[in-house]
Amino acid sequence: MAVHYNSETQEPYLRLPEPHTNIIITAHRPHSLHETSSALARILNDPDVAFRLQRTPYPYSKSDGEEWVKANCKDQEDILSILRKELEEPQNPGDLHQKRQFFDICPFTCIREVLENNPETGEPLEDILIGDIRLARSTFDEYPEGSEERAQAQKENDGLLAGDEKIEWSFGDFLASSHHGRGIMTLAVRTVIHDWAVPRMNVRRLKIWAFEDNQGSQKVFEKNNFIRGGTFKDWASVSESRGGGKKSIVLMEWAGVDHK
Ligand SMILES: CC(C)(COP(=O)(O)OP(=O)(O)OC[C@H]1O[C@@H](n2cnc3c(N)ncnc32)[C@H](O)[C@@H]1OP(=O)(O)O)[C@@H](O)C(=O)NCCC(=O)NCCS
Repeated sequence: MAVHYNSETQEPYLRLPEPHTNIIITAHRPHSLHETSSALARILNDPDVAFRLQRTPYPYSKSDGEEWVKANCKDQEDILSILRKELEEPQNPGDLHQKRQFFDICPFTCIREVLENNPETGEPLEDILIGDIRLARSTFDEYPEGSEERAQAQKENDGLLAGDEKIEWSFGDFLASSHHGRGIMTLAVRTVIHDWAVPRMNVRRLKIWAFEDNQGSQKVFEKNNFIRGGTFKDWASVSESRGGGKKSIVLMEWAGVDHK
């Protein structure tokens, strides 16, 4: 089953395969505003994470986190209610196939470590937020910042309807440094692609950009069948709070499902 369902909390979620079945990816939880925004501030103020990211605020305040959680809850609520209905009233496979629509977002963004499962149902009882994975329409970072070409490419891409194979998508991700180097993000990316992006969004085109010195991120995507493309020297602006200047980025493009 690609999308799991916690019938006690009515929460749809994805679960990573072995050896990381204790890691799940959920949507944002309106009732966890405090817990999630505190965890985000803790993770995103860690220099090992913050200095590898370009767009998240730094320093990252708890109110940055609260606004972020609220905005995400709003974006994700419609799709979650459709999914709840689908998962609570399983239909026969023929009906499901006919009625299925392609979605425009991936609501599974919060990477959580399960601390305790319900011994009877096997469903998560207690977990903590350890990271974020985000599939979004491409930002076309290969075009210069603030350029007409970048704006035009975004506008055309944003104008394509859900399910269109021509839509270009991109991933953004981060993980608490306490959990780096265990293979978690490699499997999180694989799970989102296989269990959601391809079957439920019809994603066919995916690109990522990483700072040239971010070997870990490039490796994660290489291991998910992304091919390294061009390097853009002194290209992406770094916020003053991170020291300012420009950094080189590399572009990586997905070569399609590799059935690993
Ligand atoms: C980049 C990041 C998401 C990687 O997640 P992760 O779960 O630690 O990655 P994995 O454990 O799946 O590692 C995949 C591979 O990269 C290697 N790797 C991980 N971190 C590395 C690092 N800092 N330097 C070199 N290699 C690294 C791992 O050894 C592994 O290779 P292997 O399978 O050959 O051993 C994580 O380090 C992170 O959150 N960094 C800060 C934020 C960030 O960089 N986000 C991405 C922005 S583009």
